[in-house]
Amino acid sequence: MEQTIIVTGGAGFIGSNFLLQWLATERTPVINLDKLTYAGNLNNLESIASNPLYRFIQGDILDRGLVRELLRRERPRAIVHFAAESHVDRSILGPDDFIRTNVNGTFSLLEEARAYWTDSSEEDKKQFRFLHVSTDEVYGSLAASDPAFSETKRYEPNSPYSASKAASDHLVRAYHHTYKLPVATTNCSNNYGPYQFPEKLIPLMILNARKGKPLPVYGDGKNVRDWMYVGDHCDAIRTVLAKGRVGETYNIGGRNEKPNIEVVETICAILDDISPHDPVMPHRQLITYVKDRPGHDRRYAIDASKIERELGWKPRETFETGLRKTIEWYLHNDAWIEGVTSGSYRQWIATQYSV
Ligand code: NAD
Ligand code: TYD
Repeated sequence: MEQTIIVTGGAGFIGSNFLLQWLATERTPVINLDKLTYAGNLNNLESIASNPLYRFIQGDILDRGLVRELLRRERPRAIVHFAAESHVDRSILGPDDFIRTNVNGTFSLLEEARAYWTDSSEEDKKQFRFLHVSTDEVYGSLAASDPAFSETKRYEPNSPYSASKAASDHLVRAYHHTYKLPVATTNCSNNYGPYQFPEKLIPLMILNARKGKPLPVYGDGKNVRDWMYVGDHCDAIRTVLAKGRVGETYNIGGRNEKPNIEVVETICAILDDISPHDPVMPHRQLITYVKDRPGHDRRYAIDASKIERELGWKPRETFETGLRKTIEWYLHNDAWIEGVTSGSYRQWIATQYSV
């Protein structure tokens, strides 16, 4: 087996942050297999495009022939699986792609990984890892007084997105239990940071606030999410890859539980401070309560004590430092923003936010 790792979905938000971090910290080659859906963006990876340790292959994880040939040729020591459809609101409007990529795609990848692993030498078999990147949303919704999700919490997914991720987690678990494929799964809370596509809460609010557009808060704005700076999530994934126990799952969270309205108000306050010449000031005047998301989960919270205790990982950023960094990044990357807010993005915003 070579030292190479294969990353799926590396042109997306978390995958691209992972690749940038990997090449800044590790000395081993990485191959990025990505279909380039609306969420995949090679501009995220411009700074590593000519790095000799990095290669990009455009392809679908459902293309069994392509994946088989890639594994046979490159003999990777690990697959880090990010590729997915990831936006809850899109899963509500059209779940098909979520089942296709998240369920069938993960199944295809597992089958090809199993065939490759089965044919490897005993030593290579021990070294190989299939790291599945998943979400806290598989656990369902918490009441205000419920304890945070631990790894033993029952799965209760509520959206087509979380149900498709739950299905993929179960398949990964089954491939370890039945075939002994050396897997690990991570379940992380809501990420934010550079390169996030502005359909998700934090970048959408930053971009709208800067342009003087309404800030659409769903329902009463009191739904709670547990926010994690993307660099800390990537660091946790590298830690699990290096030291995680085979067959285990690790919850990753930042102990940053915030109601949505507080997140939006904090973004407005930071922008008042660092972007005072925007068209509408103070930015909080733009906050607009809109119709709630169907089946909107009330609260997510992660108990990350297992990864902290067993693997010694801890997040570096607080919500305040991570959010300020993120807002500053969006303020200084107009070309990237122009690139992603194209025709199809405008069409999504028009569909999703028309009453
Ligand atoms: P994203 O939507 O930004 O990126 C997904 C990437 O996968 C894109 O580059 C896309 O082109 C690629 N892709 C989609 N379908 C594909 C296919 N069939 N074959 C190959 N590539 C394909 O997603 P993200 O926010 O970076 O999330 C990455 C992973 O992390 C997902 O599995 C998601 O469920 C999980 N996760 C996300 C969050 C979050 O807050 N964003 C939190 C926890 C876990
Ligand atoms: P989102 O970023 O879509 O992540 P997820 O649904 O996976 O948690 O949304 C985060 C929270 O913000 C969620 O409670 C829904 C809410 N939200 C809004 O209030 N307005 C918006 O325009 C969006 C996109 C999300």
